[in-house]
Amino acid sequence: MTRLEKKISELDKTRIPVHVAMIMDGNGRWAKSHGFVRSDGHAEGVSTVHRVTKLSSDLGIKYLTLYAFSTENWHRPKEEVDTLMYLIGWAIERELPELLANNVKINLIGDIERIPEDARQRLFYARNATAHCTGLQLNMCLSYSSRWEITEAVRKIASQAALGKLNPEDISEETISDNLTTAGIPDPDLLIRTGGEYRISNYLLWQIAYSELYFTPALWPDFSDEDYLDAILDFQHRERRFGMTSDQVQNNI
Ligand code: IPE
Ligand code: IPE
Ligand code: MG
Repeated sequence: MTRLEKKISELDKTRIPVHVAMIMDGNGRWAKSHGFVRSDGHAEGVSTVHRVTKLSSDLGIKYLTLYAFSTENWHRPKEEVDTLMYLIGWAIERELPELLANNVKINLIGDIERIPEDARQRLFYARNATAHCTGLQLNMCLSYSSRWEITEAVRKIASQAALGKLNPEDISEETISDNLTTAGIPDPDLLIRTGGEYRISNYLLWQIAYSELYFTPALWPDFSDEDYLDAILDFQHRERRFGMTSDQVQNNI
């Protein structure tokens, strides 16, 4: 038995997270440590996306949400942004046959209109081609930030109210969830951030209210299947109390 197989055998198959979200951080530092340019780190990071998608699908995870490019990342040097956009388009096209073979459905989250035409068309093509898939749903967050998303949701809700279609008294947590880009998707059970930083960087602020957080120093290109399984095993050993007492949770009362 390999170490990977051993870790898989240790998993509680009845407690696999339904939704895993990831902040894929550390590509630039990985490149620097190898004497490469930052964009080489992003290119290397594509293979980690490939692996985590495959493993998530094999484990029966229903939703995998990846932070690929934030609203704030538009402020990076133009050359790096251009390379990232090119890589995103290229990678989605290259991965499409295997995504289809694994029954993976692509969903795009974020201000996709800001993505350059060429990459955007490839993303739309992959989304349409996988629309019928019923396995893992891969949510790619592109030009996404949580504050952008919440602002958009508030605008939509306010205009409904202004038109008289919604009574402000009737606005509930559900109204807000339903107006986010993640409408219909259960909140993440587990959020993993690679790259060693302990911050959220404007990601899914509303949705992670009760997610379990896991931070690893592994840089994204180095984040291995074993590292991913370690995160899930750690998650399985936690008690999610949702504000209740441990007794209540254990006795289901
Ligand atoms: C994450 O890696 C990829 C994106 C944010 C697009 P970084 O590029 O942020 O890598 P570091 O954090 O500089 O090492
Ligand atoms: C978060 O990483 C965004 C993505 C992974 C896409 P950053 O590298 O942009 O985050 P900060 O700037 O270190 O907070
Ligand atoms: Mg970073």
